[in-house]
Amino acid sequence: MDKATRLGVIGAGTMGAGIAQVGATHGHRTLVFDTDTTALERARAALERNLNRLVDKGRIEKSVAGDAYSRTKFVDRLTDLARCGIVIEAIVEDLDAKSQLFAEIEPIVAHECVLATNTSSLSVASISAACHIPGRVVGAHFFNPAPLMPLVELVPGVSTNEDVVAETRALIDAWGKTTVLAKDTPGFIVNRVARPFYGEALRIFEEGIANVPTIDWAMKELGGFRMGPFELMDFIGNDVNFAVTESVFAAFYFDPRYRPSFTQKRLVEAGRLGKKSGHGFYDYRDADAAAVPDTDTELGRAIVDRIVTMLINEAADALFWRVASRDDIDLAMTRGVNYPKGLLRWADEIGVGEVVSRMTTLQNTYNEDRYRPSPMLLRLASEGKGFW
Ligand code: NAI
Repeated sequence: MDKATRLGVIGAGTMGAGIAQVGATHGHRTLVFDTDTTALERARAALERNLNRLVDKGRIEKSVAGDAYSRTKFVDRLTDLARCGIVIEAIVEDLDAKSQLFAEIEPIVAHECVLATNTSSLSVASISAACHIPGRVVGAHFFNPAPLMPLVELVPGVSTNEDVVAETRALIDAWGKTTVLAKDTPGFIVNRVARPFYGEALRIFEEGIANVPTIDWAMKELGGFRMGPFELMDFIGNDVNFAVTESVFAAFYFDPRYRPSFTQKRLVEAGRLGKKSGHGFYDYRDADAAAVPDTDTELGRAIVDRIVTMLINEAADALFWRVASRDDIDLAMTRGVNYPKGLLRWADEIGVGEVVSRMTTLQNTYNEDRYRPSPMLLRLASEGKGFW
């Protein structure tokens, strides 16, 4: 695949529109299909607006923006995608809808056409099962907003051809993205490894160790994260974040490590979805309601140590189960969710032995399986080794 390859994007929502913009600005003739014509019109207007904004900011030349816009067609017939070399699906997160769509698009395109899915929680295996040639189906998980976030997780299913993975990777790399390879397991890399960022913060709050602004303050000021966990949950939307947690929890056969929180569930039930509803963990309707953190550094350090330890344990476990390589796990968390450091590198800085000792203390304190140290950490600690 190269610039002459036609790109098809199915689903003109948040992700589809963003992916189309990436492809079109990198020279591809891009065809965007959606069953909803208002979504197509919204996506067309958004593309125009975003390209103009990039020109105003001096990020791209006016001619590049004009070319990208004229290269993109918004179509209301799936058959218009017939000559595409790659189709990226970004429709609703529903297996029946995706299966039906893959069965429909497969006979329209050529045998060599790659069919990629942007799913974040379904298995690539289950989607590929709808196709006669399942080897052409691959996961290409972009992050929101697709034009800005550099990471793309490439996810081969059990049936995916190696060539399809290599070609898709080369194409998306040429779009200036950072690609990592992830096993077809729940949450892939980022949505799995990041769970404790929210889950352990909620737990610390629920236990009454610290309040919401204090935990956010500690993670930003002392931990170096760009946003605190509660700010981030409010930003993502508590409904969306809670749904991801529930789906990962169920997909792991209810492993207690991923158990969702009642606090967040109640906020969702009450309609306190976060920024978009004006109220979540924080109240965005009243500027005077600014929450004041307790800036006790000893307490702050304890909060950061506990959450980061749990994140490292999750990253180590992802490596243990060969979800991805060491390099890709660290890259995914720094480029996909802007963590200040790769978690495995962070483990080495703290010392793997110390991480194990912190996990063991938590496990002894709570007597819960949630705090079991990953076998990967135990092995490295016993050998006196680090990850890097
Ligand atoms: P969205 O709800 O903004 O857009 C979905 C679009 O698909 C809608 O315009 C809808 O009309 C269209 N659609 C539904 N069924 C269709 C069909 N059969 N044929 C053609 N079009 C159809 O959804 P969003 O957020 O863009 O998500 C799309 C996919 O990307 C989902 O699989 C989601 O899990 C995944 N994803 C979402 C991320 C996010 O942050 N929003 C991040 C990464 C992946």
